[in-house]
Amino acid sequence: MSILKISRLGHPILRRVAAPLTADVLASADLQRLIDDMVATMVDEEGIGLAAPQVHASVRLVVLGDPDADAEDSDSLPLTVLANPIWRFRSAETDEAWEGCLSLPGLRGWVPRSLRVVVGGIDRTGRAVEITAQGYLARVLQHEIDHLDGVLYPDRMTDLTRLTFLDEYRRYWQPDPDGDDDGDED
Ligand code: NI
Repeated sequence: MSILKISRLGHPILRRVAAPLTADVLASADLQRLIDDMVATMVDEEGIGLAAPQVHASVRLVVLGDPDADAEDSDSLPLTVLANPIWRFRSAETDEAWEGCLSLPGLRGWVPRSLRVVVGGIDRTGRAVEITAQGYLARVLQHEIDHLDGVLYPDRMTDLTRLTFLDEYRRYWQPDPDGDDDGDED
């Protein structure tokens, strides 16, 4: 497995609408290797999610969660690989929370997202899947799937005074200044 280079804000690939994956391409050795490399890159970067355009592949593929997730721990997200995601439902009810993004290193922003979502798609074997999520998982899914449509989290912010560098986040905004929670980067 290889650690892939992350595209950063300003790279045009982050603003492109990514192409759907055909069954043949998804099953190919190259694409399966891309999935493995994306998971390895996400783990190496300590991210909670990664979308293919963030590793310079303009295809509709996201990985999220933790390969070492503890099934007993409701705070940890199991590793999920999702291709060709399609929204089935996004609640009008939203909540707001801090987000980071590996393509915008060193920044955090306060972002409204739908509280509950249902998304369809296919897994890495091409099998149809449907994910029902709320709260944190719903947020990560929305952040990652936005990447496939060229949307970055500052586009979703309604108050850009809450876009902050990490040092200033820690100093002025962090909910628990004694904690080590710097938020997650997707
Ligand atoms: Ni991101």
